Amino acid sequence: MTTPPAIVGKQLSRSFTTGKTEQTVLHAVSLSVLPGELTLIIGPSGSGKSTLLSVLSGLLTPDSGTVHALGIELNRLSRTELDQFRLENCGFVFQGFNLFASLTALENVLLALKYGPKVDPATATARAREALDEVGLGARMHLRPTELSGGEKQRVAIARALVKRPRLLFADEPTSALDSQNGQIVIDILHHAAQTQGTTVLGVSHDHRLIKHADRVVTLEDGRVVMDQRARHLMETT
Ligand SMILES: Nc1ncnc2c1ncn2[C@@H]1O[C@H](COP(=O)(O)OP(=O)(O)OP(=O)(O)O)[C@@H](O)[C@H]1O
Ligand SMILES: [Mg+2]
Repeated sequence: MTTPPAIVGKQLSRSFTTGKTEQTVLHAVSLSVLPGELTLIIGPSGSGKSTLLSVLSGLLTPDSGTVHALGIELNRLSRTELDQFRLENCGFVFQGFNLFASLTALENVLLALKYGPKVDPATATARAREALDEVGLGARMHLRPTELSGGEKQRVAIARALVKRPRLLFADEPTSALDSQNGQIVIDILHHAAQTQGTTVLGVSHDHRLIKHADRVVTLEDGRVVMDQRARHLMETT
């Protein structure tokens, strides 16, 4: 028996209108993402990578086409149902950290459990501490974002995304703002999540170290998939 894909995008198109010009950013893109894999989307700037990630995660509605995530057709959900689906099943790591400035690292991570899957307060705190430990921030968990470096903030954002143990993790250029050491930590965490926790990780990245850990790399150009390579082939070409 073959496992069904975790995410199935079919014939996804999306245009943006700025002023009088309409630009088609996705041209009938179809992409199925397998569960427990680390799949990366690469391609030139402006090729539609972030747009595709947003559409596949339900953050952005396609003009046409469908997205099924964990067997559920996202387009059919109401706004509230979609928010609930994301809170329960999805983690997001985006460029920019979106941390709350007035909260400590620990409080920022705990927030993810407040609105996600139901967890009692003691368990929530234990899990938030554990998640911060995993990203190497155990000793700095009581600091606020202004007291943390860029790399540390990104690691808090990752701890926050992972603490609820999402089945789907979306990461848009998670290492682009990081130095090489912090980048490597983030890569190890994403790889570990897919390998040992069965998390389906879909990311956008140009980072060769992350590409090396990917199970699959999909190349987008001008809103179309032009290449789709599995790890075996990547080993031969990188
Ligand atoms: N909300 C929006 N409104 C108008 N145009 C948009 C919007 N979002 C994206 N675009 C346009 O769509 C195109 C693709 O953008 P997208 O962010 O998906 O590219 P990308 O491949 O992620 O690029 P990068 O590598 O620079 O992040 C760009 O030309 C961009 O200007
Ligand atoms: Mg982008």
